[in-house]
Amino acid sequence: MTDRTARTAQLTTMFGIDHPIVLGPFGGLSSVGLTAAVSNLGGLGSFGLYGYDAGRIAETAAAIHAATSRPFNLNVWLPLTDDPTDAPLRPGDFEAAGDALRPFFDEVGAPVPAEPPAEYLPSFAEQWDAVLDARPAVASFVFGVPSADVVASARARGIRLVGTATSVDEAIALDASGIDAIVATGLEAGGHRVSFLRQPEQSLVGSMSLIPQVVDAVSVPVIAAGGIADRRGVAAALALGAAGVQVGTAFLRTRQSATNDAHRAAIGSTAAHETVLTRAMSGRLARGARNRAVSEIEAGGVIAPFPVQNWMTGKFRVEAIRLGRADLQSLWMGQSAPLVVHDDVRDVFEELAAGVSD
Ligand SMILES: Cc1cc2nc3c(=O)[nH]c(=O)nc-3n(C[C@H](O)[C@H](O)[C@H](O)COP(=O)(O)O)c2cc1C
Repeated sequence: MTDRTARTAQLTTMFGIDHPIVLGPFGGLSSVGLTAAVSNLGGLGSFGLYGYDAGRIAETAAAIHAATSRPFNLNVWLPLTDDPTDAPLRPGDFEAAGDALRPFFDEVGAPVPAEPPAEYLPSFAEQWDAVLDARPAVASFVFGVPSADVVASARARGIRLVGTATSVDEAIALDASGIDAIVATGLEAGGHRVSFLRQPEQSLVGSMSLIPQVVDAVSVPVIAAGGIADRRGVAAALALGAAGVQVGTAFLRTRQSATNDAHRAAIGSTAAHETVLTRAMSGRLARGARNRAVSEIEAGGVIAPFPVQNWMTGKFRVEAIRLGRADLQSLWMGQSAPLVVHDDVRDVFEELAAGVSD
């Protein structure tokens, strides 16, 4: 058995899957159908639970359990404590964000929210208890290192844990926590930069450099994410020492994902250099296409800290989506968007799986 085959076998055995291919979780845009489809094809389907309360988590997990008997992964965002990423919220931030975004609200015909919500997000404790009750085969985290209690609670139920690193020192910190595998995510990836030891702007490493350095630094299998969209990317990641891959953008384009057609079309028509890392839409750094909203919010210079900015833009984005407008929604996608040619999950999966056996 070659080293490469031994590495992928370690990961597939650990997760109970046939192919070392993980569907990236999408906070807000995961769908039960896509998650179950990837698991049924022999990969690890993931579902992003960002913003879900306990009731929605229970409902979603029950629907995935009903749609597949294969292992799947539930993903949560850890609360950043001593936060290096978010500026502290100041009095007046909420109103200032609403004022700055008023032109977009006017354009989609929605009112600027007058009051903040009672809670921007459900607590991590509530989400984690619901994840434990849901008994997925795997739970994955972003934005930090799970506590010893969280690790122990998963162990007690036989749930495998995966952390996410944007730098070598983050990977080492995750390795020390006793988790089972580490996603190493390069700056090419779509969605948020999930850095937790430094500002994401100070943690920007490309996959080609990051993957082998993380592989050399940690004891657990490494799952490569960021920029992988076809068999060549999979083969490259495995050659760099990864045990598997996590793919987002290519699966997001499929008709089985929960995104909308304007977003799907943008993934098919955006060049790599037209994606940008921006705080404009959510208050945290994330990669997506530069559309009018990104350009105008950046030019305006008023961006509230996460989660306020994300909540506030979300109120006009939902209307923009309803109107089929690509210029006023978050067009999250990675630099490999132009490589994405398939619109069905099976085609994407088979293309990626071909890179494992190449
Ligand atoms: C719309 C979108 C939402 C995402 N949300 C999450 C999330 O909630 N949790 C997470 O771990 N990763 C999230 N990611 C990252 C993906 O799971 C995956 O790691 C990444 O897309 C891989 O890079 P690629 O886009 O180049 O394939 C998101 C990515 C996108 C495009």
